[in-house]
Amino acid sequence: MEVKPFVKWAGGKSQLLPQIGNLYPDELGRSIQKYAEPFVGGGAVLFDILSKYNLESVFINDVNKELINVYRIVQSDSESLIDALKELRNRFLSADEPFRKEFFYEKRARFNELKDQSELGVESAALLIFLNKTCFNGLYRVNGKGHFNVPFNNAKNPSVLDEKNIKEIAKKLQNAIICCGDYKKSAEFIDDKTFVYFDPPYRPLNRTSSFTAYSQEGFSDSDQIELSRFFAFVTEKGAKAVLSNSDPKGQNEDDLFFDHLYSRYSIQRVGATRMINSKGEKRGSVSELIVCNFCKS
Ligand SMILES: C[S@@+](CC[C@H](N)C(=O)[O-])C[C@H]1O[C@@H](n2cnc3c(N)ncnc32)[C@H](O)[C@@H]1O
Repeated sequence: MEVKPFVKWAGGKSQLLPQIGNLYPDELGRSIQKYAEPFVGGGAVLFDILSKYNLESVFINDVNKELINVYRIVQSDSESLIDALKELRNRFLSADEPFRKEFFYEKRARFNELKDQSELGVESAALLIFLNKTCFNGLYRVNGKGHFNVPFNNAKNPSVLDEKNIKEIAKKLQNAIICCGDYKKSAEFIDDKTFVYFDPPYRPLNRTSSFTAYSQEGFSDSDQIELSRFFAFVTEKGAKAVLSNSDPKGQNEDDLFFDHLYSRYSIQRVGATRMINSKGEKRGSVSELIVCNFCKS
C-alpha cells in the first residue's frame, strides 16, 4: 500500500519525485534492499521508496529531535498517537474560529514547553502533527530560542489525522533504524548494497531566502563542503548515492559552487516550483540540482 508524508516540511521533495524516482537503482529487475536517508525531514522520497519496494533495512536520521520523536512514536506506539490526534482533531473541529485560534496557540505553547523540558513522547509527537496541519503554510520553523513560531492558519477543514497512512507507515518502519543527530551517523549503516539519498538544507540562493530554520543550527558553505567529502566517502564504500540542492546558477550564472564540489559525478539540473520565502508569496520555478554517483552524465 502507498504511504505518504505525515507532515509538510520545508524543502519537501514531493514535487521532485518524478526526477528523483527516475534515478532509483532498480535496474535489471534488482530492487532496492537497503535504504538510507540521513536528512529525512518529511520523508517524501523515503515514503515513495517504502511504497514501491520491500526493503530489508532502512536507516533514517535528522538533526531535529521533535521530528525524529514523531518517527519513533509512529514506529513504537502508533495506536496512542492516533488516539491523541483524534482528541486534538475533535476538539479543534468542533469549535468555532476564535476558539480554534486560542486552542492552536495554547497547543503551540505546550509543544514548546515540552521541547524546553526535552519531554518527547506521544504528546509532543501528536502536537507536532497537529500544529503542522493547522499552522500557516504547514511549515516547521523555530526562532532563536528554538521555539516553534509559525502562526495559526484559519483553514476550514484541515486534515489533522490520516489514520490509515499512519498505521501503514508503522508497519513499514517496524525494523527501521531511526537516529537523531548529524548525518554522519549513517556512516556505519551505509555499505555497497545501500542506496542513499541526501537532501541537506539548501544553500540559500540569496540572503532573504535563508528562512528555512529547521533547527537552531544552520548549514553553512563549509558544512556543504564537508558533506561533499562524506558523499565521496560513501562512494568509496560502493554505495549508490543521490544528492539534491538548490542550484545557485539560477540566480548567478557564474556561481559554480556545487559544480566544483561534485565535479566527479553526474549533475542534472531540473526545474521545481517551490516556496522561497516565509510569506509564501514568492513561489516560482527555480532550478534544483541532482548529483548522482552512479548515473551516466
Ligand atoms: C531539505 S530538508 C529535507 C526535506 C526532505 N527531503 C523532505 O522531503 O521533506 C533538510 C533536513 O536536514 C535536517 N538537518 C539539518 N542539518 C542536519 C545535519 N547536520 N544532520 C542531519 N540532518 C540535518 C533538517 O532538520 C531538515 O529536516
